[in-house]
Amino acid sequence: EKGGYDHFMLKEIYEQPEAIRDTYRGRLRVDEGIIKMAGMEDNLEKFLQAERILIAACGTSWHAGLVAEYIFENLARIPVEVEYASEFRYRNPIITEKDVLIVISQSGETADTLAAIKLAKEKGAFVFGVCNVVGSSIAREAHAGAYTHAGPEIGVASTKAFTTQITVLTLMALKLASAQGTISRPELQRYLTEMEAIPAKVEECLVNNDRVRNIAALYQDAPNCLYLGRGYNFPVALEGALKLKEISYIHAEGYPAAEMKHGPIALIDEQMPVVIIATKNGHYDKVVSNIQEIKSRKGKIIAIVMEGDTTVRELADHVIEIPETTEVLSPLITTIPLQLLSYHIAVMRGCNVDQPRNLAKSVTVE
Ligand code: M6R
Repeated sequence: EKGGYDHFMLKEIYEQPEAIRDTYRGRLRVDEGIIKMAGMEDNLEKFLQAERILIAACGTSWHAGLVAEYIFENLARIPVEVEYASEFRYRNPIITEKDVLIVISQSGETADTLAAIKLAKEKGAFVFGVCNVVGSSIAREAHAGAYTHAGPEIGVASTKAFTTQITVLTLMALKLASAQGTISRPELQRYLTEMEAIPAKVEECLVNNDRVRNIAALYQDAPNCLYLGRGYNFPVALEGALKLKEISYIHAEGYPAAEMKHGPIALIDEQMPVVIIATKNGHYDKVVSNIQEIKSRKGKIIAIVMEGDTTVRELADHVIEIPETTEVLSPLITTIPLQLLSYHIAVMRGCNVDQPRNLAKSVTVE
């Protein structure tokens, strides 16, 4: 059932090219230059008239929501607020009929996310669900939605659910942006073409598996690890840190790289591995100067860079190359080596990768 892989998590990491393709199949019409999503088309006015979009989710799904915030605001120019479902539901938030709430959940059964839907519906908001499990409670409670087509995700650590959530949310943002006229037809066309190229680029990342495993071997005993990224890749840094802590029990934190000097830089010494996303088209020069700051404090740098990068290669202790893509779609690529890194470290530490201690696949208690 693990299809020859040692763990479900590894199998699911390797399923991502297909899962992403399955998720955009039928929706992405590159030749026609359009995106077909029935759940959105039937409710397009609600989205176009929304004063803002609220996003509520938990854990990894919340990270996908953060990526979506960057994409929606940048491309569709609609204000977005991302909330932990557990905070949102209890803090007496302001919700009106002019709001659209997007909930994101792999299982479709997360209790706090379900409660967020009920609250928003009471206040008259329109609720759109992005779920993986067909017919799940959240899918049924939402007014409309779009499924991710990741297939069953068995490993507790979410992998293909995350990348397929980002795929759906990106398509939604592009669809809205083109309906609003905030991106031009040629721009839309370029994104569609690039989206179609993503699965092959994920494959390319997976080819680096041995290299990632060799790096993992060097850091398997680290007590702490820092993950840094900026812009679209700040949420990816959070996700990388969550992945490491939940399956390997190494304390890890994700930060926006520029926040380092407001506190976390005090942690840097020769023992501290810092995983940093340093892709060419995302605030590259700023990230390079963050890397220099870490190096001058003797931190160990593991950098995710684009193929052919030379500047970061000179500064970093290790580099993991990934193929180039447009900045908006880069989280779909930068995530892959971080998943592999946490997987290998957890295996080397003898951890139960698919069923980490204290965790359940779906959190149906509050
Ligand atoms: O099923 P959901 O997407 O609603 O689950 C939300 C979180 O419990 C989930 O993403 C959790 O953080 C994962 N274990 C992360 O790998």
